[in-house]
Amino acid sequence: MVSAAKAVAPPATDPVKPARSSEEFLIFGAPLICEEEEQEILGSLRTGWLGTGPKVAQFEREFRQYKGVLYAVAVNSCTAALHLSMLAAGIGPGDEVITTALTFCATVNTIIHAGATPVLVDVNPETFNIDPEAVAAKITSHTKAIVPVHFAGRPCDMDALVTIARQRGLMIIEDCAHAVETTYKGKQAGTFGSFGCFSFYVTKNMTTGEGGMILTTDERHADRIKILALHGMSKDAWHRFSDEGYKHYYVVECGYKYNMMDIQAAIGIHQLRRIQKNWERRQEIWATYQKEFAGLPLTLPTQPDEGTRHAYHLYTVLIDPKRTNLTRDQFIADMTAENIGVGVHYQSIPVHPYYQERFSWRPEDYPDSLRIGQQTVSLPLSPKLNDRDVADVIRAVRQVLHH
Ligand SMILES: Cc1ncc(COP(=O)(O)O)c(C=O)c1O
Repeated sequence: MVSAAKAVAPPATDPVKPARSSEEFLIFGAPLICEEEEQEILGSLRTGWLGTGPKVAQFEREFRQYKGVLYAVAVNSCTAALHLSMLAAGIGPGDEVITTALTFCATVNTIIHAGATPVLVDVNPETFNIDPEAVAAKITSHTKAIVPVHFAGRPCDMDALVTIARQRGLMIIEDCAHAVETTYKGKQAGTFGSFGCFSFYVTKNMTTGEGGMILTTDERHADRIKILALHGMSKDAWHRFSDEGYKHYYVVECGYKYNMMDIQAAIGIHQLRRIQKNWERRQEIWATYQKEFAGLPLTLPTQPDEGTRHAYHLYTVLIDPKRTNLTRDQFIADMTAENIGVGVHYQSIPVHPYYQERFSWRPEDYPDSLRIGQQTVSLPLSPKLNDRDVADVIRAVRQVLHH
């Protein structure tokens, strides 16, 4: 397995942009884009390779090496990655797929896109991750797969989930949208099951603007995903994106338009080279918040578990109105008035009307996800934050809580 450290390039040139003043709004999840990304994009623009081309191939190769897996296919979102993984897994109508009630809607929507039925389970209130015992309790003869989400970058209990999947003959499709750097007992997130799906959305640990990646160890799965990601055109169609001249292509199934562009990969190549450095900065900010907020009436995230590597994607605190005399939504409004952008990850899935109408889900049946969804706030945790930004966040939190 290639170590994370190997992929780290020399320090990047910091962007020549003025630092934010304390009066300016601090945007939640702003990416750190450096000179290297700008030059690489310019290179694509100048050569004319804007669409899928050599930079996508390079990005796939380098991401695959970073994670130490055999196959990586770049696509235009994690949503696309999840959808194609479901299809390649053979998941379809009549199948059930178990996932968490505390996730982004795309995790659930892609199960529905594949024609299957999502089955939700509640989370562990400490880790915010899917509860393996609750997973086992929801397995039926129709269950085909489990989709764990490594929430905020903290790995799920993969020993338990892999054991359940093996015993019950289920596939695992990992939603690694938060978990590029995550490891569990030395093993990389995204390599435990049949597929690992990553997001390079703008707020994520590394970005391509929009983008995603699918990891798999099975060449047949990788080939099928490539076909499905490009209209269902035979694998050879990808050679259209080379300088070998015109090639006929043949449509072998009804696919999608999910391919990544070279302009996106141009950003991703340099984001990946800086992954370790950015992780270290987020770890530092996370530790500062833990220390500074220790005495406040907030529930702080639990420390990473031993033997794991937390990706520090989100720093979430819980606002319990009984402790703060403040609702979560009032806290958000007050932080915004203090010029600090915050996020909510997430309201629980069953509170959304579409799912209630379609599946008759009731939020109270998933009490931990419901409560977390009502109380959670994510504070800024981007490597772009300088020490003054971090101090501004801490000052604003104290101000809003009257501490
Ligand atoms: C847990 C989770 N899954 C899936 C997605 C979808 O990712 P993308 O926006 O790249 O499609 C996200 C994005 O926010 C996410 O947080």
